[in-house]
Amino acid sequence: MSALLKLENVNAVYGAAHILHDLNLQVNAGERVALIGRNGVGKTTVVNTILGLATLRSGTVHVNATLLPRPRTYQAAQQGVVVVPQGRRIVANLTVEENLQLGAAVGRKGPWNLAEIYKLFPILQERAHTPGTALSGGQQQMLAVGRALMANPSLILLDEPTEGLAPVIVDQLATIFNRVAGQGTALLLIEQNMSLVVRVAQRYYAMAKGSVVAQGEVVNSREGLHDIEAHVMV
Ligand SMILES: Nc1ncnc2c1ncn2[C@@H]1O[C@H](COP(=O)(O)OP(=O)(O)O)[C@@H](O)[C@H]1O
Ligand SMILES: [Mg+2]
Repeated sequence: MSALLKLENVNAVYGAAHILHDLNLQVNAGERVALIGRNGVGKTTVVNTILGLATLRSGTVHVNATLLPRPRTYQAAQQGVVVVPQGRRIVANLTVEENLQLGAAVGRKGPWNLAEIYKLFPILQERAHTPGTALSGGQQQMLAVGRALMANPSLILLDEPTEGLAPVIVDQLATIFNRVAGQGTALLLIEQNMSLVVRVAQRYYAMAKGSVVAQGEVVNSREGLHDIEAHVMV
């Protein structure tokens, strides 16, 4: 199995604040993996460490089998690992289409382009020339996912993509994530909505206090949901 993302014994800090403790995590090509855990356990810091926004103090980060001794955002993207950030971060003053084109800046070849994104999200085509930040929350999330796909990633890190969205939108996103994964793109889904996790992910890592404290297979059933929810309460 080829690892697209591998964190081994990672310790990461923000200045004097030591957030991640000996964290281990791996995502292989084509896999759908969930990262769960309560607010504040360090899920976003995992993303930030890969992007170089938190400081890697010790341990190793491999992206697409390349060691990143000092991770930087562009390095991950060049290796096909792209983030849909928490809070979506749509660029104000840019239209929907311009926001999508930002995603293509890394210049990776692959199946995704504007026409394919518009097939996946027709609403984005309808609103192509309106400011990105004028969209609803759900539409902005679609835009953030579309922007990531424009980079033709082999792995997408989705940081709480359904936060604050209505259940009907969450259902639409579940369908989209499964469709994208079905085309072979690996997903790391950081989520607190366990019903989404069981619909999308094959296995999970559960975090508490900056470490992975449990991991296993996701079973898509009421029992599976119950089982995985128990890990968020750690
Ligand atoms: N820039 C920062 N500087 C210092 N501490 C931070 C910073 N960002 C987050 N933290 C702290 O790191 C811990 C983990 O945060 P975070 O990774 O955002 O958790 P999660 O995504 O699981 O909610 C929290 O205690 C948070 O307050
Ligand atoms: Mg977070």
